[in-house]
Amino acid sequence: MCPNSRPQLPACNMPNILIVDDEAGIRESLAGILADEGYTTSAVESGEACLDLLEKQSFDVILLDIWLPGADGLDTLARIRELENAPEVIMISGHGTIETAVRATKLGAYDFLEKPLSIEKTLILIKNAIESTQLLRENAELKKQLQTKSVIVGDSIPMKALRQQIALMAPTNGRVLIYGESGTGKELVAHAIHAQSLRKDQTFVEVNCAAIPEDLIESELFGHCKGSFPGAASDKEGKFQKANGGTLFLDEVGDMSLKTQSKVLRTLEEQRFTPVGSDETITVDVRVIASTNKDLEEEISRGNFREDLFYRLNVIPFFVPSLRERNEDIPLFTRHFLKELAATYGRRPREISDDAIDVLMRYSWPGNVRELRNVIERIVIMNPTTTKFDAKHLPPLVYRDGSRRAPRGEFSTLHQARDAYERDYILKKLDENHGNISRAAEVLGLERSHLYRKMKTLGIAVKE
Ligand SMILES: Nc1ncnc2c1ncn2[C@@H]1O[C@H](COP(=O)(O)OP(=O)(O)OP(=O)(O)O)[C@@H](O)[C@H]1O
Ligand SMILES: [Mg+2]
Repeated sequence: MCPNSRPQLPACNMPNILIVDDEAGIRESLAGILADEGYTTSAVESGEACLDLLEKQSFDVILLDIWLPGADGLDTLARIRELENAPEVIMISGHGTIETAVRATKLGAYDFLEKPLSIEKTLILIKNAIESTQLLRENAELKKQLQTKSVIVGDSIPMKALRQQIALMAPTNGRVLIYGESGTGKELVAHAIHAQSLRKDQTFVEVNCAAIPEDLIESELFGHCKGSFPGAASDKEGKFQKANGGTLFLDEVGDMSLKTQSKVLRTLEEQRFTPVGSDETITVDVRVIASTNKDLEEEISRGNFREDLFYRLNVIPFFVPSLRERNEDIPLFTRHFLKELAATYGRRPREISDDAIDVLMRYSWPGNVRELRNVIERIVIMNPTTTKFDAKHLPPLVYRDGSRRAPRGEFSTLHQARDAYERDYILKKLDENHGNISRAAEVLGLERSHLYRKMKTLGIAVKE
């Protein structure tokens, strides 16, 4: 049986403990004491039997004798530590030497008990080890949830290309600037880059630059000292410091004030900064991913965005397409959200008719994937007894607008094929020129304004 598929006990069960010792007397007395404390116990007499049992059952703590016939305690410990969701292991030794203790600790043993066992010490150690196992498992579970949170749905060509680009760029540590209309999944892309990067075990910290008032953003990013401005009642750690070792996601970076931009630029250049009101410089190692739904070059020409910061952030540009230009993904998204939301609301997954899907595919989705998710959530909530949704269940706006538009059909006409080719080509040139529209226009032999209009027509993310 594969160790990954070992059954987990329901959380409500009493913690259960596995005793591994070749002396029947120890097994029996330990089992008795632990049962009196309300623990569930199992006992085996060898390392092999312990590993066999772990394939069938999950434990919260293992008490493992060092001297065992066959595979000894240290070998068994090494095998246990290779299992997914392994419990903490407390080693029991009758002839404890420093050397074995060091080896066991290196192999990941939680702690040591020496024979003859002190009941009090044994019980305290077990209690702490159980807590530690539970924390480790919770942690693993959260990490898994975070990973599923960064799963990017979509089989269309632009989404496949995006996934490829993420896989390629995520491990490089390069700064990424994500362009895309509102609701296209920019934050999800940022999460996915972090989850596939070398920093995946470190923190992912997000700052929404558009949502934080101008006078607070500097303190939010860099932290402040107590009393450095009215309202600074205590010292505060900034997001750059919180993200140390990990990734900082600057959402809507185009909304940052020029003053904050210059401080961010300095921090990116020097990898260090000074909190508001402090003389102390803090050094950090942070990968910055930024996102915007604005045309930053336009903002630069208007004097709202620093050109030097733009080049710092825009090392690797990512373009998340609007839902309109990948509407072939709509059936997949719809079924994905129906399933996800049914699970959230604890209901059975519901179906949706082809007619309804047709309407959804013809609607223009100004709010992109977020709007689609909201629409599905709304129909799931509003129609609790419906087992199969039809076009009439859709919100009036979506229904009316989606029914009026001509079906888009497959990419079978010359016109559509040309659009698709142009789009790919422009994206490629934008990519080669690090997202710089002016330079891409020059290479393509177009006026910048012409390229800008073309990008809009082809649904390549630019400010509306
Ligand atoms: N490819 C995708 N697969 C699965 N879910 C997606 C996808 N794209 C977007 N979503 C979902 O759509 C919603 C909006 O995505 P997200 O917040 O990442 O968009 P955004 O571009 O950051 O939006 P905004 O510009 O408004 O901040 C989220 O619930 C997200 O999980
Ligand atoms: Mg966002």
